[in-house]
Amino acid sequence: MGRLKSLRCPKCGSEPALTTAFRCPACKSILEVNVEISHLLRSDLRAMRQSRDSTIWRWFDFFPVESRACVVSLGEGGTPLLLARRLGARLDMPNLYLKNDTVLPTGSLKDRSNSVGLSKAKELGFTTTTVMSTGNAAASVAAYSAAAGLKSVVMVPAGTAPSKIVQARAYGAAVIVVEGSFDDEVAQLYKAAVKEFGWYDCLSSNPYRDEGKKSYAYELVDQLEKQIPDWVIHPTAGGTGIYAMWKGFREFFSLGWISRMPRLVAAQSAAAAPIVAAFEQGLTYVEPVVAHDTIAESIQVGNPASLGWRALAALRESGGAAIALSDEEILEAQHLTGSLAGIFAEPAAATSVAAARKLRARDVIGREEVVVCNLTGHGLKQPEAIRVPEEELRPIAPTLEALREQVKKIDKFD
Ligand SMILES: Cc1ncc(COP(=O)(O)O)c(C=O)c1O
Ligand SMILES: [Zn+2]
Repeated sequence: MGRLKSLRCPKCGSEPALTTAFRCPACKSILEVNVEISHLLRSDLRAMRQSRDSTIWRWFDFFPVESRACVVSLGEGGTPLLLARRLGARLDMPNLYLKNDTVLPTGSLKDRSNSVGLSKAKELGFTTTTVMSTGNAAASVAAYSAAAGLKSVVMVPAGTAPSKIVQARAYGAAVIVVEGSFDDEVAQLYKAAVKEFGWYDCLSSNPYRDEGKKSYAYELVDQLEKQIPDWVIHPTAGGTGIYAMWKGFREFFSLGWISRMPRLVAAQSAAAAPIVAAFEQGLTYVEPVVAHDTIAESIQVGNPASLGWRALAALRESGGAAIALSDEEILEAQHLTGSLAGIFAEPAAATSVAAARKLRARDVIGREEVVVCNLTGHGLKQPEAIRVPEEELRPIAPTLEALREQVKKIDKFD
């Protein structure tokens, strides 16, 4: 049974013949995948929820992959949704939930996208995949390519610290270091390489891989027993998460499987917040900004060219919000999430908790509302963000007396 109905242009509405091209031939917009779901019944939802498969593939019928034999999985999805009692008490939000995506196979949300993206690459017969990234995307594409038996090529700008590419290298990716800046020279060469070598593009310009994050919506409905959260807060860079979550919730709504929709919030670093700016200015498109340095390295994106405008539309349609966080607010949220909820999130991921805190303080979020914060990447991705005080590192003599003195100081270390 064919699931993929068409690729459709969200701007001009044209439906070009199915090929391996990802852009509309008429207006160059990124095409959108249109999966046939209208035949699905409530009994299908029951069966999916009862499936022994705990990965995103329990929702197979919603993804643009025709053959289960092509599925490339490392066990992604089905991550814990935790009621964060202590953190919620501190933030005056008794119904605060954390969606712990730090436990995904390569430690970030990118696995949701790349499991679908690489499955499609296999189905379409590609042999080499590529991505330009210095972090989570590179690691994830490399891992899923390895599992699929495909070669992967990762492009990074000169000056990228070796520690940023070790994970991709460990999964066997070829790393190509390019002179110039990420947004200009590297991006241009990346585009040209996809064209020249016919490599499979794993950025958000690939409509198949963008479908993967719809799984957030399906999992939340499942895990909250079909109670719909009032708010879902997502750390936002390219806008894929917001766009895809909204699409996923809408699919369930169109099937009558849920009776209302959540409000979505995009949380960005103030140093790179083009979607927040566009939201506040009431624009329907996203004006690129220069992305300044920020502790939230993984979401330092100034030009969300492919899906920014679609994320913006989803935020508005949902009656949601977009909010920028300072590095200080992000680090505080990271600390609170670790010490009160037991989850070590990378700074980019902790923007969701920082946003929840800020929106609650402003009373935009009501005390009793059900709020989900997506924690999208593991803290070990960026261990240098955690500062261990000098005093704590100073060795003590191996005597009980010295230990007693040190124990007296422990509270001060917090
Ligand atoms: C840790 C982390 N969180 C969130 C994102 C958000 O990406 P998007 O807005 O495309 O969902 C990314 C990727 O760029 C990321 O690495
Ligand atoms: Zn078009």
